Amino acid sequence: MAAVGRDRAVVWWLALDSVDPGDWPRLRALLAAEERARADRFHFERDGLVYTAAHALCRGLLSAATGLPPEGWAFSVGAHGKPEVLSPRDGPQLRVNISHTRGLAAVALTAEHDIGVDVEWLERHPHVDELAGRMFAEREREQLAAVPDAQRIEAFLRFWTRKEAYVKAIGKGLSQPLDAFSFELDQPGIHFADPNADDPARWHFDEIRPGPEHLLALAICHPEPARLTVEIGPAPLAYLTSLASEISSSETAEPGRTSRR
Ligand SMILES: CC(C)(COP(=O)(O)OP(=O)(O)OC[C@H]1O[C@@H](n2cnc3c(N)ncnc32)[C@H](O)[C@@H]1OP(=O)(O)O)[C@@H](O)C(=O)NCCC(=O)NCCS
Repeated sequence: MAAVGRDRAVVWWLALDSVDPGDWPRLRALLAAEERARADRFHFERDGLVYTAAHALCRGLLSAATGLPPEGWAFSVGAHGKPEVLSPRDGPQLRVNISHTRGLAAVALTAEHDIGVDVEWLERHPHVDELAGRMFAEREREQLAAVPDAQRIEAFLRFWTRKEAYVKAIGKGLSQPLDAFSFELDQPGIHFADPNADDPARWHFDEIRPGPEHLLALAICHPEPARLTVEIGPAPLAYLTSLASEISSSETAEPGRTSRR
């Protein structure tokens, strides 16, 4: 159902307002027990739900790509916190990454190659000038300064999602200085301040708007990006809920947990 391989990647996103209240216990049922416990520890219910959505997407997409059950997946954690899925011994090395923001979760899956995804809520109001001044490359700061005030937050977040997708793909997160590489606002491709640091020709980026309130960026490292096929679209919610109904676990449906907004 999801064709994933060394030259193929799939990205699913899920908008929280597209989930029927009755579907949440089913999405929750796809999670491992420790993930359900972590979802319950968020102070705000909306944060627990988007965490649940992201991890249900992750397990659901892994299952759609392999036919293996969602509850069986286990993950290791890299030096800077990047989770890596433990792939079945006889299959390709799967590579997965998730992202969640207010109202939206996403997962990106491929095989073998580094992959990173980032989603952001466009209604957030970060301190754009302060953050860009402290973290962005000079070329990006110049481009931002030329953008009219009304469009500056969106322009900032377009840089930000691509930068986060890259640092998530390489697994370093924010331990990677964000001014060591840069983007052009309206052109694909990455530029490295130190030409020996990395090779722009082996990076593929996508940037889309899953809806009016969100941005999504994807980064994949591939020896020949032209060979890549990337499918990006809304998650098949009916498939995810049907997967959940195949799981029989007494722990899954826990009605009545206290929730806060
Ligand atoms: C952790 C980080 C990699 C991404 O953080 P983020 O953008 O807040 O969060 P996202 O939702 O995109 O990604 C979180 C997921 O990435 C994964 N992740 C964690 N560390 C990672 C790393 N080093 N590399 C790649 N992925 C990582 C995890 O699966 C995590 O989800 P989980 O905790 O539910 O398992 C890091 O870059 C960070 O802390 N960013 C700061 C965010 C920030 O300041 N935003 C302000 C924007 S204006």
